[in-house]
Amino acid sequence: MMFQNMQSSFCFLLLVAAIQCLLVIVFGKDNYSRGDFPPGFIFGAGTSAYQVEGAAFEDGRTPSIWDTFAHAGFSGGASGDIACDLYRKYKDDVQLMADTGLEAYRFSISWSRLIPDGRGPINPKGLQFYNNYIDELISHGIQPHVTLFHSDLPQTLEDEYGGWLSRKIVKDFTEYAEVCFKEFGDRVMYWTTINEANIYALGGYDYGFTPPGRCSPPFGVNCSRGNSSTEPYMVVHNMLLAHSSVTKLYRRNYKSTQRGFVGFSIYGLWCVPYSNATADVVAAQRTNEFYTGWIMNPFIFGDYPSVMKKAAGTRIPTFTKYEAKLVKGSADFIGLNHYTTVFVKYKPSSIEKHSRDFGADVEAEYSLAALKADQYPVIPSGLYELLEYLKEAYSNLPIYIQENGQKTPRNGTLNDTSRIEYLHAYIGSVLDAIRNGSDTRGYFAWSFLDGLELLAGYVSGYGFYYVDLDDKELRRYPKLSAYWYANFLKGKNSTNSTILQVGNKLIPINKS
Ligand SMILES: *[C@@H]1O[C@H](CO)[C@@H](O)[C@H](O)[C@H]1NC(C)=O
Ligand SMILES: *[C@@H]1O[C@H](CO)[C@@H](O)[C@H](O)[C@H]1NC(C)=O
Ligand SMILES: *[C@@H]1O[C@H](CO)[C@@H](O)[C@H](O)[C@H]1NC(C)=O
Ligand SMILES: *[C@@H]1O[C@H](CO)[C@@H](O)[C@H](O)[C@H]1NC(C)=O
Ligand SMILES: *[C@@H]1O[C@H](CO)[C@@H](O)[C@H](O)[C@H]1NC(C)=O
Ligand SMILES: *[C@@H]1O[C@H](CO)[C@@H](O)[C@H](O)[C@H]1NC(C)=O
Ligand SMILES: *[C@@H]1O[C@H](CO)[C@@H](O)[C@H](O)[C@H]1NC(C)=O
Ligand SMILES: *[C@@H]1O[C@H](CO)[C@@H](O)[C@H](O)[C@H]1NC(C)=O
Ligand SMILES: *[C@@H]1O[C@H](CO)[C@@H](O)[C@H](O)[C@H]1NC(C)=O
Repeated sequence: MMFQNMQSSFCFLLLVAAIQCLLVIVFGKDNYSRGDFPPGFIFGAGTSAYQVEGAAFEDGRTPSIWDTFAHAGFSGGASGDIACDLYRKYKDDVQLMADTGLEAYRFSISWSRLIPDGRGPINPKGLQFYNNYIDELISHGIQPHVTLFHSDLPQTLEDEYGGWLSRKIVKDFTEYAEVCFKEFGDRVMYWTTINEANIYALGGYDYGFTPPGRCSPPFGVNCSRGNSSTEPYMVVHNMLLAHSSVTKLYRRNYKSTQRGFVGFSIYGLWCVPYSNATADVVAAQRTNEFYTGWIMNPFIFGDYPSVMKKAAGTRIPTFTKYEAKLVKGSADFIGLNHYTTVFVKYKPSSIEKHSRDFGADVEAEYSLAALKADQYPVIPSGLYELLEYLKEAYSNLPIYIQENGQKTPRNGTLNDTSRIEYLHAYIGSVLDAIRNGSDTRGYFAWSFLDGLELLAGYVSGYGFYYVDLDDKELRRYPKLSAYWYANFLKGKNSTNSTILQVGNKLIPINKS
């Protein structure tokens, strides 16, 4: 009896050890926990308005340029007309966020839901919705982090004066921001004015494959209008001016009572040299300046990087003295959206061929295919190095990682171990960077739900929760990563054996 017991408990121990080994192999060493992050550091997840809200034509909302773009067939033929219907389901979703242990939530406000004409009268139903949503988050102890613009400019402003191409946007955007401060600022302290300004400009005005879909040959070939050589620069310029106008307003009229912060978001592509050849090393540095320095340099030094000014000449706008002063110091924090690292190889021929610098050595030197791959390679050192670069080159401005995550096919499986592996590795590199002095203050995984993706529509998703679009109820299903993140956030060992058992019960999604 005794012997038998000993034997079976020995076997049991062996089994446990085997499972643990497997977990360590699958998820990497669980060498950090929630409690290792500094006090005040917050963890959350996010989505943006058009990707999840749905109710696109309801209660007074008017179309944005993203609606137009999607209806023209660009998001894989899909649209956000219904999306995840968060507009109606926000209470259940906030409950799900709370169950997942989210400490903060990042979402965006649909400008054309709140102010259907882009300027002027507020839509009472839109106002009501965002008030309810924010109240619901707060009553569940979840800190709201709000983005004002996430690729969804009211179509009416695009039609009237070309949206972000025009200086007129500064006044309209500032007035929209003021409505948000007035109405929501008593409860919201973290404001991000503009999402991924650099990618908005490149995708929308250079390649032309994101809204509003402008470009010119040879850089983008399928646009009916645009100028890839000049417009991306004008758009970012106007975004920086609009942002700093909003910050000035906030600091003057709201900061003392609301005590919040106004930040700006960039797409943090990290570029490393393909080889140690000097030309590659220099090309990688230049590419980082074109992506990240483009935004960071004005915020810290009041001007664009000299390498950009040299390459773009008169095509890049100049800051007046007044504007430079306004922009410099206008970001309380940087929202960093990081997905991947690319390897940059110097290609002299492309510099000669193209008048445009982006075509010259950014586009040519890394493959866009890398960004469109099915899954991102797991290169956590890239995020670490990017955070080091921001710390060293740009004064260690406070940072919130606002997006980071792995995509998987929507029709794949709930057993998303590749997402867990990715998140575990990248969150670990954030901790490493913090330990070496980076002022990173928060981390938002992308994304909470599988929503409409800008390029992929509903073909792939980043969510912790799968949304069954064929189900009239649009039911949400947790992926394994949702359990994993919940365990991590609750301070539990996130690679415990129950997780594996859960994983073994999760089914593939048989949808085509
Ligand atoms: C978490 O569990 C794994 C597997 O059971 C174990 O190897 C690891 O040491 C644990 N980590 C912590 C921080 O307790
Ligand atoms: C341009 O549009 C055509 C026709 O829709 C399509 O076949 C082609 O792949 C597009 N080219 C690019 C670079 O997107
Ligand atoms: C883009 O604008 C520049 C500067 O105004 C001009 O030289 C160039 O011809 C324009 N390109 C196109 C495709 O319109
Ligand atoms: C560059 O040089 C370093 C140090 O000599 C070496 O470790 C690294 O592998 C080299 N990188 C490449 C891409 O050749
Ligand atoms: C965790 O372990 C990995 C691999 O051993 C290491 O690179 C990383 O620095 C560690 N991270 C932390 C936060 O200890
Ligand atoms: C840590 O930070 C210091 C100071 O900013 C820097 O010199 C050093 O290279 C960093 N170490 C690593 C391993 O990144
Ligand atoms: C292990 O994970 C499960 C599933 O999320 C959780 O319910 C359980 O509390 C965890 N156990 C420990 C010891 O952390
Ligand atoms: C889930 O993934 C793990 C790790 O890849 C694997 O061991 C397990 O069999 C998978 N479960 C199912 C149901 O496919
Ligand atoms: C999932 O979708 C992809 C892309 O649409 C398709 O290639 C693949 O065959 C689908 N897989 C399943 C299991 O339906």
